Amino acid sequence: MKRLFLTACAIALGLSVFSTSDNAYAQDPGVENAIKYRQSVMKAVGGNMGAMVGIMKGAGDKANLATHAGAMADLAKIASTLFPAGSDFGETTALPVIWEKPDDFSAAIKKFQDAADNLATVAQSGDMAASGKAFGGLGESCKNCHENFREKKER
Ligand code: HEC
Repeated sequence: MKRLFLTACAIALGLSVFSTSDNAYAQDPGVENAIKYRQSVMKAVGGNMGAMVGIMKGAGDKANLATHAGAMADLAKIASTLFPAGSDFGETTALPVIWEKPDDFSAAIKKFQDAADNLATVAQSGDMAASGKAFGGLGESCKNCHENFREKKER
């Protein structure tokens, strides 16, 4: 009887210790919120990208291209703030290499910012051919970072 009681205590203790350490990161609202915030900003980045593709295919008002390009340039400016230390745990596809090779990651962000700034400037001119070229450069900057710093998705 005594042994059974001790075993029960050990299990209860073991389980509670286990669950605490297991969820240490998942339960930290700071980290979870940082990841959600990052993904929301990236969704906005993706939304503006999709909208620009639509305009270049002839949908919407051509003048809106400059608006989306400007929004993209603004979002690129805050990209460096989206990856606080510790936000590589939890529901994220951001790879640890972001924090392991900060110089390489900063270079990828700089590429994004330069490409977005370039498109924002070119789009002001209304020249669709030149904008298309600048848009291609922006797309390359997304690909460059996703290939190196984001988990590959099966879908
Ligand atoms: C400097 C690196 C970097 C650049 C540049 C970058 N991304 Fe991302 N992106 C990421 C990372 C890392 C994630 C994964 C975020 C996570 O899961 O926490 C991501 C996620 C996303 C997502 C998914 C968001 C979600 O969770 O639903 C979209 C959409 C996206 N990026 C679009 C773009 C587009 C479009 C561009 C270019 C205009 C771009 N990204 C440029 C690093 C980058």
